[in-house]
Amino acid sequence: MENILAQSAVRPQATAATLAATAQPVIQLRDIEKVYQTKTIETVALNRVNLTIHKGEFVSIMGPSGCGKSTLLSIIGLLDEPTSGVIELDGRPVQSYSDKELAALRNQKIGFVFQSYHLINDLSVLDNVELPLLYRSGVGGRERRERAYAALDKVGLSARTNHFPSQLSGGQRQRVAIARALAGNPEIILADEPTGNLDSVMGEEIMDLLLGLNRQEGTTIVMVTHDEQQAHKTQRLIRFFDGSQVQ
Ligand SMILES: Nc1ncnc2c1ncn2[C@@H]1O[C@H](COP(=O)(O)OP(=O)(O)OP(=O)(O)O)[C@@H](O)[C@H]1O
Ligand SMILES: [Mg+2]
Repeated sequence: MENILAQSAVRPQATAATLAATAQPVIQLRDIEKVYQTKTIETVALNRVNLTIHKGEFVSIMGPSGCGKSTLLSIIGLLDEPTSGVIELDGRPVQSYSDKELAALRNQKIGFVFQSYHLINDLSVLDNVELPLLYRSGVGGRERRERAYAALDKVGLSARTNHFPSQLSGGQRQRVAIARALAGNPEIILADEPTGNLDSVMGEEIMDLLLGLNRQEGTTIVMVTHDEQQAHKTQRLIRFFDGSQVQ
């Protein structure tokens, strides 16, 4: 298995324009609105967002705190529902999927990476990476283990499979979280400030890993970041302000 980190110097560039011309839309948001209602206040977190993401694109999303970036990722990742508007995955409206189909989509098509890793501290690195595969029908114990090893190999952590999260650096923990997403072989990775808790060296390592995944495996990636430099390494930068796309 090839280590993506070691290969990330190879950079075949596909521009957003060429992708738009050749690749099919994998995620389409039409007039998406998300309103949070609490007892005292109504917040319009997303205000008529229209967005198309093509297969194989690496898109970054920037914007001030509270402008709706995490809400957007939750909605794209089917973790939350919009108040109004239509989401299409592979050209099919998500509303037309049954609950069972949606659960399968969430589990198989999409991998999540969060700023704070979301690892389970009582489980070994290997068990953390295997965990999402437990919920997947048709994947037996041996295949689970093989996939988890392969994913950890890809992120350069083969030597740490029996460690626990507390015994790893922040960058290594985030690599475990990425391996956990990869074990499911997702077409789309949604990353919410994946380098937000890391120093610049470790942050760059994670960024290289994501760039390698996108370039070598064609994984579609949508990443929220506060780091301009990182955002400029991706193919497309979308800026949000107050729940709307401004650029
Ligand atoms: N569950 C919730 N209930 C009520 N309001 C919410 C909820 N989740 C988010 N909000 C509000 O929606 C808006 C958008 O929040 P969101 O978390 O998407 O922002 P963000 O752009 O990710 O910010 P940050 O950069 O700080 O992570 C904010 O005003 C927030 O207070
Ligand atoms: Mg956020």
